[in-house]
Amino acid sequence: MSPSIPDSIPGHEWWRSAVIYQVYPRSFADASGDGVGDLPGITAHLDEIADLGVDAVWLSPFYRSPQNDGGYDVADYTDVDPLFGTLADFDLLLAKAHDLGLRVVVDLVPNHSSNEHAWFRAALTAGAGSPERERYIFRDGKGEHGELPPNNWQSLFGGPAWTRVDGGQWYLHLFDSSQPDFNWENPEVADFFDAVLRFWLDRGVDGFRVDVAHGNVKAPGLPDVDLELLKTGSMESPYLGLEGVHEIYRRWHRVLAEYPGDRMMCGEAWVQPLEKLARYTRPDEMQQTFNFVYLQSPWDAPQLREAIDGSLEAFGSVGAPSTWVLSNHDTIRHTTRLALVPPPPHGQGVGPDSPSKADPVLSQRRGRAASALMLALPGSAYVYQGDELGLPEVIDMPGEARQDPTYARTGGRLVGRDGCRVPLPWRADAPAFGFSPTGASWLPQPGDWAALARDRQAGDEGSTLELHRRALRLRRELGLGCGSLAWLDAPAGVLALRNGDITVIANIDGEAAPLPAGEVLLSSAPLDGSDAVPADTTVWVRTSD
Ligand code: GLC
Repeated sequence: MSPSIPDSIPGHEWWRSAVIYQVYPRSFADASGDGVGDLPGITAHLDEIADLGVDAVWLSPFYRSPQNDGGYDVADYTDVDPLFGTLADFDLLLAKAHDLGLRVVVDLVPNHSSNEHAWFRAALTAGAGSPERERYIFRDGKGEHGELPPNNWQSLFGGPAWTRVDGGQWYLHLFDSSQPDFNWENPEVADFFDAVLRFWLDRGVDGFRVDVAHGNVKAPGLPDVDLELLKTGSMESPYLGLEGVHEIYRRWHRVLAEYPGDRMMCGEAWVQPLEKLARYTRPDEMQQTFNFVYLQSPWDAPQLREAIDGSLEAFGSVGAPSTWVLSNHDTIRHTTRLALVPPPPHGQGVGPDSPSKADPVLSQRRGRAASALMLALPGSAYVYQGDELGLPEVIDMPGEARQDPTYARTGGRLVGRDGCRVPLPWRADAPAFGFSPTGASWLPQPGDWAALARDRQAGDEGSTLELHRRALRLRRELGLGCGSLAWLDAPAGVLALRNGDITVIANIDGEAAPLPAGEVLLSSAPLDGSDAVPADTTVWVRTSD
């Protein structure tokens, strides 16, 4: 561990209050010029990430992969895909990050591998009944000739969750057909992942973001589902959120504990209610889980308050921090999402044919207010690359440019997640806005993103970038992440809270709310000398009592 990152004391571990910046490597910065971001591109911009004032970075997958699902289809868990660089590039990135005082969290994908993983290739060759097939979930089909899938489960990307191999057995894939699910009942799989954890821990990573942490374990017998009841959440899923997953995280907790420093795991678990989510963060399991209840809250004061209260209570009851998040590489960017009318159903994306529309000016304003509210809350928080620039979701992307497997698997019915993955604009006047030296970009960037480029925003006090820098600096100085929250009385449509020395007024959709006496430290929109906080605005005020 670099001297710039000290160990902390129990109860005050860094991850309890850290702001963690998510880098989606494909779209962050491209040093090689092929139009896809890479590790040297990230290393070249680590100074800017540190300058933002965050504590850590989480890197979405950069492992060997055919890239059918943006790298969440891993062919080799302990090597870097040549698209992104080499292991030596990773080591340089890690060393520089640590020198800058930034921790590094990497992604772990344990529910499935790529169909190009050596184990899956061996399973195909070895045939039915072989130990090689026991590492995945192969079954005979139903019907006279096994021509029907073993059960009626559907892929989360659309279409059946089973694919047949050369007229023989079928294998399960909760996601794309190129992402076969592992069989976690086989001890070989658990041993394999222990070794993967150790490989990256030995290199010095500070933690793991655990992909589909509520997957892995499937109900015995793989029973059929009632598709309607499952869709409405009226039946327990036989493949997501099963109790058995907790044993895996207890095992990993023990592996992490063998290492010095405060290594951590953050689970991606789309489970409800919050009490169930918090179970992933019991003291002998993971340190964090993304708070997706908060991410899914609409821009509505009572619902936001309920999500905040419920989270603090549920995570507090197991001694864990609440881990706030508004955007990531799977969801509509919150700058757009919170302003969409009508709100689209969660997980369906938004494209040119969607009935949901967002006013661009309101989107920017609301996105900033939402970020300023989140960064005032006690606990840990995630910022997705581009949030700090106020990037909106790219809605008008032509179908032929879209690369998310969801788009193809649903025949375009669901547009997928490309709109939140468009490469970042760094410099207004450079090719591909500075994303790539050649001007190449794996997804098209909207022409009007020059105005949002980082170099345009830097130094402009009214910009979204400077709002984030200020919020992050104050959050650190005032210890807001380790603080506690007390609600204050507020008019309808307004949230008022106190954390340490600051009072936060988040006017969601209320009448202009009175500004408390004190020093205004931050405002997500100009107040123009007024003593009232208008709607879609969050203000931090240093108050004396
Ligand atoms: C997670 C990832 C998502 C990926 C899926 C399958 O939800 O965040 O991007 O497609 O898992 O690995």
